[in-house]
Amino acid sequence: MQHHSHTRATLGGKLSAVLVATGSSVGLGNIWRFPYVAGDNGGGAFLVIYILCVILMGLPLMIAEFSVGRASHLNAVGAYRALDRRWSFLGYNGVLAAFLILGFYFVVSGWTAEYMVHSVTGSLAQYTTAAEYESVFTNFISNPWRPILYTVLFALATHFVIALGVQKGIERSAKMLMPLLFVVLIALSIHSLLMPGGGEGLRFFFQPDFSKVTPSTVLVALGQAFFSLSIGIGTMVTYASYFKPETNLRHTALNVTILDTLVAVLAGVVIFPAVFSVGIEPSSGPSLVFITLPSIFNGMPLSMVWSTVFFLLLVVAALTSTISLHEVITAYLHEEWHMSRRAAAWTTTAATTLLGAVASLSVGVWSGWKPFGLTLFDLLDYVTANILLPVGGFFTCIFVGWKLDQQVLKDQITNNGTLKFRIYRLFILLLRYFCPLVMLMLFLDNLGVF
Ligand code: TRP
Repeated sequence: MQHHSHTRATLGGKLSAVLVATGSSVGLGNIWRFPYVAGDNGGGAFLVIYILCVILMGLPLMIAEFSVGRASHLNAVGAYRALDRRWSFLGYNGVLAAFLILGFYFVVSGWTAEYMVHSVTGSLAQYTTAAEYESVFTNFISNPWRPILYTVLFALATHFVIALGVQKGIERSAKMLMPLLFVVLIALSIHSLLMPGGGEGLRFFFQPDFSKVTPSTVLVALGQAFFSLSIGIGTMVTYASYFKPETNLRHTALNVTILDTLVAVLAGVVIFPAVFSVGIEPSSGPSLVFITLPSIFNGMPLSMVWSTVFFLLLVVAALTSTISLHEVITAYLHEEWHMSRRAAAWTTTAATTLLGAVASLSVGVWSGWKPFGLTLFDLLDYVTANILLPVGGFFTCIFVGWKLDQQVLKDQITNNGTLKFRIYRLFILLLRYFCPLVMLMLFLDNLGVF
């Protein structure tokens, strides 16, 4: 493991660790997936459960993944293997999950790119009703080649950032564009709050109705929390392997978690008032934001400018996330298979683009093909968020909580004793007992054991 570490890149300034990790976390998971999953699962009660999952399970796991990554200075597979041979399967789970996530993530990213282009040309502004926007969306995703074209373009954009290398590519893009996203989201949420009938949407989003909650709601919330925070599959292991020794891991994790949750909640505040104002079903699934957002922009002065800027930022948020997923596979191929970084990156791009193209067709011309009752697109989403991420998270807790030398963990979190961590005992308690037990019960319940 030593011979890799001295040639590996590290991240620069103080903010960089927070920025790149936030870049990975904040993405379509917050703005596209969170609102539709929350809408599908009853709104307010889901939000409460989601936030509990983030604080009690997401945060400890992110600190755990950071520790594994910086302790080993290796890719996800190499990191677990270096710490304990028998646990390299956790790394493989990560590489596989990253591949499957990219398979549908590139497709949705492509949709956002297409919407950006249509905003610039003004063609998105020519419709008025939500029903019209719904058919625009359906027509677009069922076109056999246009979505694939955008998927390919998006994969290539990711590829070129990766090819620029860790520092220049990943760090710079996150640094410039993340702050801008916040500003635009805040402006849009103010606009949404002022829409007629918006109050009902706010009630839906913030007023918990626990009568709709089932154990599967909790699993969905957990999966969404892991998806949104980019944890469970070694992405944060890979990123933390580039962190500097001085980086404060728990501050970094806390900041990333707060920012990520803030963006998700803001996205909800933008989406739900508008959903009720223009009369869309909050449970309409993956199309939700693609129907709602253009309807929001329509009612705004300078609508073209707003929608262009917003979709541009969405493209960028998606890009900083696809980069992190791509990096997991690229770093693995580069370090474990001894490919050059270039060849590793191209292999990753080619394989994920191919999967993305099939996933894109699966919601269009091939929508009759439904393995396990779902389109390939939905299947990739379902399997990763509800199975691979929680399973990865479960074993990460077991590994870091029980198997990893506790001194290694302590040294990472306290930077060899130079930082205090007052709630270390609570942290270990969550990691050892609470998280694995809750996850185990959720699994057993979903398998129908209880
Ligand atoms: N968190 C990103 C989002 O919300 C997606 C993502 C990037 C991801 N890397 C990940 C999800 C690793 C799970 C695991 O859009």
